[in-house]
Amino acid sequence: MKIAILPGDGIGTEIMAEAVKVLKAVDLPFEMETALVGGAAFEAFGHPLPDATLKLAKEADAILFGAVGDWKYDKLERSLRPEQAILGLRKQLSLFANFRPAICYEQLTHASSLKPELVAGLDILIIRELTGDIYFGQPRGRRIAVDGHFPGAEEAFDTMRYSRPEIERIAHVAFQAARKRDHRVTSVDKANVLETFQFWKDIVTEVHADYPDVALDHMYVDNAAMQLVRAPKRFDVIVTGNMFGDILSDAAAMLTGSIGMLPSASLDANNKGLYEPSHGSAPDIAGKGIANPLATILSAAMMLRFSLNQPEAAERIESAVSQVLAAGLRTADIWSEGTKRTSTSEMGDAVLAAISR
Ligand code: IPM
Ligand code: MG
Repeated sequence: MKIAILPGDGIGTEIMAEAVKVLKAVDLPFEMETALVGGAAFEAFGHPLPDATLKLAKEADAILFGAVGDWKYDKLERSLRPEQAILGLRKQLSLFANFRPAICYEQLTHASSLKPELVAGLDILIIRELTGDIYFGQPRGRRIAVDGHFPGAEEAFDTMRYSRPEIERIAHVAFQAARKRDHRVTSVDKANVLETFQFWKDIVTEVHADYPDVALDHMYVDNAAMQLVRAPKRFDVIVTGNMFGDILSDAAAMLTGSIGMLPSASLDANNKGLYEPSHGSAPDIAGKGIANPLATILSAAMMLRFSLNQPEAAERIESAVSQVLAAGLRTADIWSEGTKRTSTSEMGDAVLAAISR
């Protein structure tokens, strides 16, 4: 088994170092190969997703990804910006199913910005479609308007689109995931305004006919945003498009107290996957040794479970993380009065010690 390790930018390298330590400790026969991606790759090779990195990602059995991006690249032309690395990997590897769990750890209930009773026991799974929608739709660009309110003026445009097979496959993924949980799916759309999302809603409803044991409801995205902060525990699985999923998953992540705790998986049709923390590269705290490595460590566990078929090793890592939290260790993002503040590497070491126990 081969794992591609792509640390990326900002805190990416620090948190990845901890995840690699932990992966070595579970003592399985896999090979890890590291490559540059994002701004780091741009600096070295002039492109955020160099051929060698893409090749490694393609031939590996799974990919562990840190984070990419830094404000200093904001002025580069779009195709050279760090974000293109993750978008390119998703597209080139057909990683269409993005799993973003939002779980509120019992010990962190008080770190949430919502009242503890609203989030205690929270366990939502957001399934975001990842290779379609307005993110990738063509045409897009800038031009001179020929109609609209200001003909003759400069304008910019993007295209929102979904094909039937794209919607069908993500709907199947969502219903199947719900079968392993509470058997409820909420499909989030904007069918009241957008043609694309009326189509989405119709097709999700059709696919639902294959899953009579799963309850389906539909919700407009604005209402979904409201319900997420009003009564988040009403949700089990949320399935939605690329852009709505991007936005709602950040909101859901914050309900749990810290985005620094949440892993994610992006899978293709054969369960090959890219695993990454739900948070970004956080250039403002990079190099300070204070970032929370747990989302990346938990992403490694998810990788062992979903792509590498090593559920026991995944379990060992997850239980080590719980033990460390139970012992009161906290990085700055989840620290509160009465707990012990740790650095990035102290947190990694503590997980390592718990695994070895
Ligand atoms: C995410 C990120 C990316 C996205 C960016 C970095 C391109 O926000 O994974 O949610 O928009 O998908
Ligand atoms: Mg996002």
